[in-house]
Parts: sequence; C-alpha cells; structure tokens
Amino acid sequence: MSRTVLITGASGGLGLELAKLFAKDGYRLVLVARSEDKLCAIKTYLESQYHTEVDVVVKDLSRVNAAMDIFRYTKERRIEVDILINNAGFGDFGSFAGTDLDKQSDMAQVNMIALMQLCHLYVRPMIRRGNGKILNMASVAAFEPGPLMAVYYASKAFVLSFSEALSVELKGTGVTVTALCPGPTKTGFEEHANLGSSGLFKHLKNASAAEVARYGYKKMKQRRVVAVPGFMNKAVVAAVHFLPRTVVRHLVYTIQK
Ligand SMILES: NC(=O)c1ccc[n+]([C@@H]2O[C@H](COP(=O)([O-])OP(=O)(O)OC[C@H]3O[C@@H](n4cnc5c(N)ncnc54)[C@H](OP(=O)(O)O)[C@@H]3O)[C@@H](O)[C@H]2O)c1
Repeated sequence: MSRTVLITGASGGLGLELAKLFAKDGYRLVLVARSEDKLCAIKTYLESQYHTEVDVVVKDLSRVNAAMDIFRYTKERRIEVDILINNAGFGDFGSFAGTDLDKQSDMAQVNMIALMQLCHLYVRPMIRRGNGKILNMASVAAFEPGPLMAVYYASKAFVLSFSEALSVELKGTGVTVTALCPGPTKTGFEEHANLGSSGLFKHLKNASAAEVARYGYKKMKQRRVVAVPGFMNKAVVAAVHFLPRTVVRHLVYTIQK
C-alpha cells in the first residue's frame, strides 16, 4: 500500500515542488489550496507523469473550520496521512498601522492557527500508528522581528517555536517534526506579499523553489528539527544570535524598506 502525504499550499511555489518530489517517490497525494483550476491541472500532470493517485481539496485555510473540513475529508475516505506538509502561507508588505486588518487576521489564521490545528488533528493518528512526519514551513524570518512585515515575521517565529517544542514532546513516538526555514525564494510569494517595492528580494540572492523543496524533503527524511537551506541563510541565522536585538530589528527594517 502506498504512503500518503497531505500538502497545503500545493497550487504553486514550494508546495508544488514538494508535491513533485513525493509523487516521484510513489506517494499518494492530498493537495490543498484555494485555486481549484491550478490544483486540477497539477493532479492531471502528477497522475499521468508519476502514475500516482492525487486527491484535490479546495479549501481556504483562513476560514475557521478549514482544518477540520480537511481532516473530515481524509477520514471519510479512510485516507491515512503518513506525512503532513503545512506549507500554505502568505505575507503582506507595509507598515502595520497602514495594512488591512482583515488581511492580517487571515494571515494569522493561515500561517499559524490552521497549521497548529492540522498538526493536532493528524498527529494523534500518527502517534497511534507509531510513525509519521510533519514538515512545517517556517522561514529565516522566524529568527528575527520584521518591521514592515510585522505579523508575517511573528507568524513564522510561532511556527519555528511551536515545531521545536512539538518535536521534543514527540520524542520516542515515531513521529518527527521539521521546521523548514527558507530565505527569499523565487515563487509567487513576492507578488502575493506586495514586495515589489521592498529591498528584501532585490538585495538577497533568491533560491529556486525546486532546490529549497529538495533540501526540505531531504532534511525531513533525516528527521532534522530545524532546517535552514543555503549558506547565506545559515549565516544570517548565526549572526542574529550574536547581534544585539536592537541592531537586528533595525537592520531588518533597513533591508526591507
Ligand atoms: N518564497 C519565499 O521567499 C519564502 C521564504 C520563506 C518561507 N516561505 C513560505 O513558504 C510557504 C510557501 O510559499 P511560496 O513561497 O511557495 O509562495 P506562493 O507561491 O505564493 O504559494 C503559496 C501557497 O499557499 C497557498 N495559500 C495561500 N493562502 C491560502 C489560503 N488562504 N488557503 C489555502 N491556501 C492558501 C497558495 O494557494 P492558493 O492561492 O491557490 O490558495 C499557494 O499554493 C509559505 O508558508 C511562505 O511563507 C516562502
């Protein structure tokens, strides 16, 4: 029987690249996002290319019941999720006071609450079976405060802290948790976060989605708890630990504006 992976935010970017890797390895896939047309095209491509089975779940993770709806979908079809990839997420560039509160609230719901709820729903069956893997998409942003993307950076700090804590609680259960922490990566993220006027993607070298996905896939299989791809990103994370916080927050502001 083939193993199953559930990937949120699988309609493009890092989620799509991860889906390709799992399909290539013979996994059955459950793909979640809002864009039905994109998901259906990906299903057709993956099923014909890799002869695997793909379920499409069209869901807006900013809706409060979304995680439970997804869990119910898999339960009703007796789909056992062996690997959970909490990848869906987005940012929003601009001063906090000037941003739209609904958008910030949706971001908190997608990036943190839905991720936490999906972990809770799927980790119990994983523990009962004595195996499972969870990959949560954090970011290099998780390590520092991010003026002009305050809620986004804070949401990724949540993902990192939560994933690390969970990984300790799950020791000995056969279930592992990995927080993947990419730096700027070429996907739809920049456009969706209105980062066109920010220095973030201009100043820092952008990795390709395929290489970041490959790194995350490998580190998840190796049961790494915190995975930071790329030399530059590792250097940033190391520097943040040494620099005073007041320097770090002003530095991030200078890079972003
Ligand atoms: N690209 C980077 O530089 C970078 C760096 C570090 C971390 N990350 C993180 O990597 C993850 C993937 O982002 P990406 O770079 O691949 O960006 P992307 O190309 O914009 O992909 C984002 C994915 O999330 C889905 N999504 C967004 N809002 C959603 C919602 N309300 N409900 C369900 N799905 C939703 C999108 O699908 P639909 O629009 O179809 O719903 C899409 O599949 C995010 O968590 C992001 O924070 C990205």
